[in-house]
Amino acid sequence: MAQQLLKGKRGIIFGALDESSIAWKVAEKCFEQGATFTLTNAPIAMRMGAINQLAEKCNAEIIPADATSIEDLEKLISRSVEVLGGKIDFILHSIGMSPNVRKNRAYTDLSYEFLMKTLDVSAVSFHKVLQTAYKQDAISEWGSVLGLTYIAAQRTFPSYSDMAEAKATLESIGRSFGYHYGKHRKVRVNTISQSPTWTTAGSGVKGFDAFFNYADKLSPLGNASADACADYCVFMFSDLSRMITMQNLYHDGGFSSVGVSQEIMDMLMGDNEA
Ligand SMILES: NC(=O)c1ccc[n+]([C@@H]2O[C@H](COP(=O)([O-])OP(=O)(O)OC[C@H]3O[C@@H](n4cnc5c(N)ncnc54)[C@H](O)[C@@H]3O)[C@@H](O)[C@H]2O)c1
Repeated sequence: MAQQLLKGKRGIIFGALDESSIAWKVAEKCFEQGATFTLTNAPIAMRMGAINQLAEKCNAEIIPADATSIEDLEKLISRSVEVLGGKIDFILHSIGMSPNVRKNRAYTDLSYEFLMKTLDVSAVSFHKVLQTAYKQDAISEWGSVLGLTYIAAQRTFPSYSDMAEAKATLESIGRSFGYHYGKHRKVRVNTISQSPTWTTAGSGVKGFDAFFNYADKLSPLGNASADACADYCVFMFSDLSRMITMQNLYHDGGFSSVGVSQEIMDMLMGDNEA
């Protein structure tokens, strides 16, 4: 093993549903880099049972928690401190779900009840995790908390629907809590804006393959994979990134800075000539 960047660090990883989940890759890499952590997901997601394999591989305890329930989060955080033997150094929030997207509701015909659920699960839960940890004083100085987001917070992608609102809120919570937790305990809070990635949540977005291919052709480095995202998370949890906080960090192969690429131009010129 080349390095042990997270040796001695304790963490909580939300959102590993199956092998394709970004959180799954993050857990594997954190384990490789010497971290100990607990794994958590919504009780309903546990039914699939895949998380047990990951827990075994990473020698991690699984603690079910609905990330919208303060009671669940209180138990999760206090139990994690107990089983890991001290304060938490890193937390990954890798959670997203929109009932409007799931049920194919058009953006111009949103169910507001669903919208509230989207916001609670995908964004407010980030605040709930941070606030619960803050109140329990459960994160060590220079600890690092990450949320995963998407560029639909800044630009419109029609089929991303109300998840765009959730991501804009999530990023704002990262900045705002980053200020308060930074002042209070030097805890860092950031969001990583990841390329389209083939996972259960990702592929639930209508037309995801077109979405994925377009981004791949626009980005000079191509789309960032879940594995590459996990490497970035390890760096962000490590002491190498200790002065980075309150940022929305693009991890997208350059997508966010490109207007148009030659590949897209060629495709469109080919269409005109045909
Ligand atoms: N896949 C992509 O294209 C992509 C791109 C950018 C950002 N992201 C973000 O990455 C994160 C992880 O998603 P993923 O792509 O790995 O998909 P995923 O489906 O593997 O992960 C989403 C997770 O959210 C969990 N979850 C849903 N409701 C919950 C609740 N109430 N409490 C606790 N957990 C709950 C699910 O059980 C699941 O494990 C999400 O925030 C997603 O929006 C994904």
